Amino acid sequence: MSHKRVAILISGGGSNMVALLDSMIGDHPARPCLVLSSEPEAAGLDKAAARGVPVAAVDHRPFRADRAAFEAELMKPLIAARPDIVCCAGFMRILTGDFVSRWQGRMLNIHPSLLPKYKGLNTHARALAAGDGEHGCSVHEVTAELDDGPILGQARVPVLNGDTPETLAARVLVQEHRLYPAVLRRFAMGDRTPIHWG
Ligand code: GRF
Repeated sequence: MSHKRVAILISGGGSNMVALLDSMIGDHPARPCLVLSSEPEAAGLDKAAARGVPVAAVDHRPFRADRAAFEAELMKPLIAARPDIVCCAGFMRILTGDFVSRWQGRMLNIHPSLLPKYKGLNTHARALAAGDGEHGCSVHEVTAELDDGPILGQARVPVLNGDTPETLAARVLVQEHRLYPAVLRRFAMGDRTPIHWG
């Protein structure tokens, strides 16, 4: 059986990327074909290279507000890697509808909230400010609208007394590292049945 080829988009430390890379072994139906960063200095690039995964980076800064020009450059290594699936993992650039439409239906993202709650940034602080009793993370298909698209998995964690955004984020991140690999494995087998934990 030939493996599904998975490209992973990152911007930073790539802890979710590492979890995905380390899951694609043995009888897993997918293997990584590229780790691509919007930040040339992203620590995740070294972690990927250390695991023998091809890496590339396109610095978004020279393109300033010209999102289309940045994405045209980003597309080059991505197309060259011939991915079947593209996983965004801590990728911090908003992608235009044109870019997403090229990969729609095979592009995933992990977001640190129980979508549709708290799209966008600072999700942990917002959940605390709202007094939520629980929080969590979601893996969803990427569509043109930010942090929208069909949910493929969610994991819930309790909000504890005395939680700060940092302690809550750390609790959620543990679940992200479990959920994303589980969803990718299922997605790579053609199964889009959502996973719900906690
Ligand atoms: C995590 O909160 C993740 O949910 C979000 O970016 C943060 C860092 O992720 N996408 P990573 O450690 O770079 O994978």
